[in-house]
Amino acid sequence: MNLNHHIMKIPESLLQKYNVPTPRYTSYPPANYFHEDFTAEKNKAVLIESNQTEPQNISFYIHIPFCGKLCYYCGCNTHISQDKNLIKSYVETLKKEILLYKDLLDSKRKISQIHWGGGTPNYLPIEEVEGIMALFFEHFTFIQKPEIAMECHPAHLTFEYVDRLIKSGINRMSLGVQDFESKVMKAVNRSESIIPIDQLIQYIKTKGDISVNLDFVYGLPFQTPENFKSTMLKAIKANPDRLAIFSYAHVPWLKKAQQKLETYDLPNAEQKVALFETAFQSLTEHGYVAIGLDHFAKPNDELSIALNTKTIHRNFQGYCTRDTTGQVYALGVSGISQLDNAYLQNTKDLRVYKKAIDADELPVEKVYFVNKEEKIIREVINELMCNNYVSFLHIATKYDLSIDELKAILIFEETSIKQFENEGLLKFKEDTIEITAEGQFFMRNIAASFDPKMKTNEKSFSKAL
Ligand SMILES: C[S@@+](CC[C@H](N)C(=O)[O-])C[C@H]1O[C@@H](n2cnc3c(N)ncnc32)[C@H](O)[C@@H]1O
Ligand code: SF4
Repeated sequence: MNLNHHIMKIPESLLQKYNVPTPRYTSYPPANYFHEDFTAEKNKAVLIESNQTEPQNISFYIHIPFCGKLCYYCGCNTHISQDKNLIKSYVETLKKEILLYKDLLDSKRKISQIHWGGGTPNYLPIEEVEGIMALFFEHFTFIQKPEIAMECHPAHLTFEYVDRLIKSGINRMSLGVQDFESKVMKAVNRSESIIPIDQLIQYIKTKGDISVNLDFVYGLPFQTPENFKSTMLKAIKANPDRLAIFSYAHVPWLKKAQQKLETYDLPNAEQKVALFETAFQSLTEHGYVAIGLDHFAKPNDELSIALNTKTIHRNFQGYCTRDTTGQVYALGVSGISQLDNAYLQNTKDLRVYKKAIDADELPVEKVYFVNKEEKIIREVINELMCNNYVSFLHIATKYDLSIDELKAILIFEETSIKQFENEGLLKFKEDTIEITAEGQFFMRNIAASFDPKMKTNEKSFSKAL
């Protein structure tokens, strides 16, 4: 199905029906199922066991929690600080943690990905980034073309910083723009880029084959379809390889600063969908391909190519192509390791983190050990969220099950799938499900219908739209 140039009309009745708390499914089960019931030995054993499970490659996630100031919409794990000593000490601890992993992971395994997230990784002095990258190159081997990505706040990016990032090995940069409208940026307490984004991208592109992504958020105060369209057109002109257009996740019970945004008329579900439709149309009309829940990529980008072969994969860090994916090992506070058999979430507390690493222990605070049924459900949900498609036959064969056994694990209810089909959100043919362009808006709801935990759910999630 070609999603491009598709003009959508989403009935309001569907928006109301499906705008209910729903997981984002960046993991399965979602992170609020992780618990504190574990022993340090078991965690270490799970990590060592991961040397034998697929995928074999190593993917590292590095969390840098620090930011210069707090954007009020922010849902990330951040620590607002100007304390240079605190930042320096954090980097030292991180380096010790890298060496801990060097001892635990099989030296024959290669790094396929490093993802720097935050907070704001480029808030670190550039020497610290260079030091950490040098340590990886000294102690690990890499696949031929590893993906080394960093989430960057453009308010802290200079040309010199960009040069040195690229020299240190970064080959993917994601720039957090959020919106080009100053009124919106002021309302959310966000600093703007020091170098105009189009110039920044042009400059990065002179440095070689560096992929550039831009992040935007819709659902913020003062955003209208008209001004968001201008923002999109400006973004398109800047010519990034990819864009992420995130739905604002409003979770003020977790993130107190978000309460400040409640003093404005925040866009409602219908207005949010209008904002996303504007972005969707502008981007697809200009040749970008819609990927999964909220990403867009140029047609010759690896992600678009992987969509055609239904081989897109997803983790907490976003979408990636299957051939470079590895099991993810998280370094730093709040990071979540995503192994075949388990999720291990690091403590969010800077002091507890340092104390654990100084004692040569993993700084794990919560875990989830994934059983066979959950792995199967995870795969079905991932296929739907990444490739807009799932084949029951394919998954049943992979796990040596009959289709009926697979459906029993999913607590599959044909009536609810038929209902989505009658609403035009998916196509259900024999044993395949394909999400339509309209259905993309409700991808989280469709995925939730394959999640047995949602049928007995007492957890709280942000709303689906
Ligand atoms: C860690 S930040 C990126 C790096 C840097 N800190 C910055 O802000 O530019 C990750 C991205 O998450 C998105 N984000 C943050 N809070 C969000 C929320 N509450 N809802 C949706 N997206 C959000 C923003 O688009 C942001 O660029
Ligand atoms: S959006 Fe980025 S810069 Fe702003 S507070 Fe969150 S992590 Fe920090």
